[in-house]
Amino acid sequence: MPWFFLFIVFILKLARGDYVKLPGNSDIGNLRLQSGYLKANENGTQRMFYLLLESRDLPSEDAPLIIWFNGGPGCSSLGAFFEEFGPLYVNFDGKSLFENVNSWYHKANILFLESPIGVGFSYDLEVKNVSKGDDDGIAAQNFNAVLDFFENKHASYIKNDFFIAAESYGGVYGPMLSALVAESIAKKEFPNENFKGLMIGNGYMNVKLSTNTMILWSAYHARTSPDEWDEIKMKCKTDGARDVDSYDFMQFMTTTNKMDYMVDNKTECGKLIEPLLGQFTENWEGYDFFNYYHDCYTNFSLPNTTDPIKETLKLAPRKGISALWNKYSTDDKTSYSCWDDVAIHKYLKLSEVEKALKIDSEWLKRKKKWKVCNMAIYDQYVMTHQDMTPFFTKLFNNYTGPAFRVLIYNGDVDTACNYMADGYFTVKYTPWYYSDNKVLAGYYMRYEGANRLGSKLSIDVVTVKGAGHFVPLDRPGPSYQMINNFLSAQPGKLANYTQPI
Ligand SMILES: *[C@@H]1O[C@H](CO)[C@@H](O)[C@H](O)[C@H]1NC(C)=O
Ligand SMILES: *[C@@H]1O[C@H](CO)[C@@H](O)[C@H](O)[C@H]1NC(C)=O
Ligand SMILES: *[C@@H]1O[C@H](CO)[C@@H](O)[C@H](O)[C@H]1NC(C)=O
Ligand SMILES: *[C@@H]1O[C@H](CO)[C@@H](O)[C@H](O)[C@H]1NC(C)=O
Ligand SMILES: *[C@@H]1O[C@H](CO)[C@@H](O)[C@H](O)[C@H]1NC(C)=O
Ligand SMILES: *[C@@H]1O[C@H](CO)[C@@H](O)[C@H](O)[C@H]1NC(C)=O
Ligand SMILES: *[C@@H]1O[C@H](CO)[C@@H](O)[C@H](O)[C@H]1NC(C)=O
Repeated sequence: MPWFFLFIVFILKLARGDYVKLPGNSDIGNLRLQSGYLKANENGTQRMFYLLLESRDLPSEDAPLIIWFNGGPGCSSLGAFFEEFGPLYVNFDGKSLFENVNSWYHKANILFLESPIGVGFSYDLEVKNVSKGDDDGIAAQNFNAVLDFFENKHASYIKNDFFIAAESYGGVYGPMLSALVAESIAKKEFPNENFKGLMIGNGYMNVKLSTNTMILWSAYHARTSPDEWDEIKMKCKTDGARDVDSYDFMQFMTTTNKMDYMVDNKTECGKLIEPLLGQFTENWEGYDFFNYYHDCYTNFSLPNTTDPIKETLKLAPRKGISALWNKYSTDDKTSYSCWDDVAIHKYLKLSEVEKALKIDSEWLKRKKKWKVCNMAIYDQYVMTHQDMTPFFTKLFNNYTGPAFRVLIYNGDVDTACNYMADGYFTVKYTPWYYSDNKVLAGYYMRYEGANRLGSKLSIDVVTVKGAGHFVPLDRPGPSYQMINNFLSAQPGKLANYTQPI
């Protein structure tokens, strides 16, 4: 009997393979989490770091695979793992982890890619300090990495249904990668043909629409008076505009990178709209530009960014839990000090965490520390594709599978990538509800059609009420219900977002 028992233990150990054991995780027992590097170019000198999280409730071969990208450009998908929809969040001590009960991995496998090369633990063997990226180059890296995933590193996934998903500037990565994948499948060159859909959260898919609608969003969120708005309507009118909804405010703006637009205050209209775009000026207005109604952050007038954790811990012994309150916030109840980014930087710097994640020794040798965003990449970025329409067209034209579903979801109080730009269509809005049909969770619009190959195509444009830029962080429950219903829609049917989990 004892030898038999030992044998079973041994087999179980083998079966658990080299799953990562995250230090500080006492909330959830064993995650089936793997980490490693994928080849982002042909000769493999570009090494893209990934986390692969297997579904909690389903065998990994039965669950769909979500391939996830954060945006930036230059920000890490580990941000999504530890701050958005992963199973564990980092505590304010920067060491311990606690469970996110609304994680998306319950019924899906998730691949988090740190893209492009130069972000997080991703690096280039030949270039010491990658600080460059561009849209087409990143699309190629992402395609190579995903190919390496299915072809070599995790070939057991070649039969899984898979979805590409991205947020923010990922509104560029997602459609571009999807178009490449659809084309490759059409040519019978891609190892996995079960490409089922694309999900974009608060995506930057059309610069002109994003920029222009931000003026409208601000005007209708109490950031201008009716008299000022009347003046704007007079002074900012552009040729061919039917009404203020279609003014091209961008004509009164300037840019250096074709991505971020600043008002040209030498023009009369520019001066008038400047207060509506506070976040683009040097003079930060003191609100969280990722969530207009969330006063999460510390005192904006402080000369430099204080470490909210340090500040909190200084007070903690005396004040207990109330030390976690953010005294600078106007939010109700226990609005907290927003330690998230500081905490994940601390956590991912720990050498035991680097070790657990099996970070390449070559990366460690360079004595860098993990950062949520590579700002050098952002600062030097020049956007080349300001409108994703051609990539959606290519994706839809080339798609050969039975049915392809697109989910465009937006937190409705984000001022970085506002919902109006991504939902700029004129069909009917239908409400959807969270948790047993009780609470309004947002609205959706639906388009259905087919391509000339007879593949069904659908696009759902969904808003999540009260969420900002990072929907799963701000509205965890509704975001999980939405994703779960989108992923689990039966073949030939479309999602019912109101369905409780
Ligand atoms: C690997 O490929 C890159 C282009 O992706 C090239 O710049 C580099 O020189 C190649 N290195 C080797 C060792 O072949
Ligand atoms: C115009 O913008 C520039 C650069 O942002 C700023 O330095 C200047 O003070 C602004 N001028 C006015 C009149 O607002
Ligand atoms: C924010 O910091 C500034 C500069 O230190 C200080 O003058 C101000 O009183 C602070 N605001 C609050 C609400 O504490
Ligand atoms: C600004 O940063 C310096 C150096 O980190 C620190 O000593 C100082 O206290 C900070 N000032 C404020 C007001 O946070
Ligand atoms: C890496 O590049 C950035 C931007 O070019 C620069 O600011 C930084 O100092 C460089 N770091 C190293 C270690 O060379
Ligand atoms: C793929 O899409 C492109 C762009 O829309 C189109 O020109 C091409 O014909 C499509 N290829 C196939 C095989 O459908
Ligand atoms: C969607 O699900 C809800 C909750 O189960 C249900 O009340 C509603 O009838 C469903 N809607 C459709 C169109 O099936």
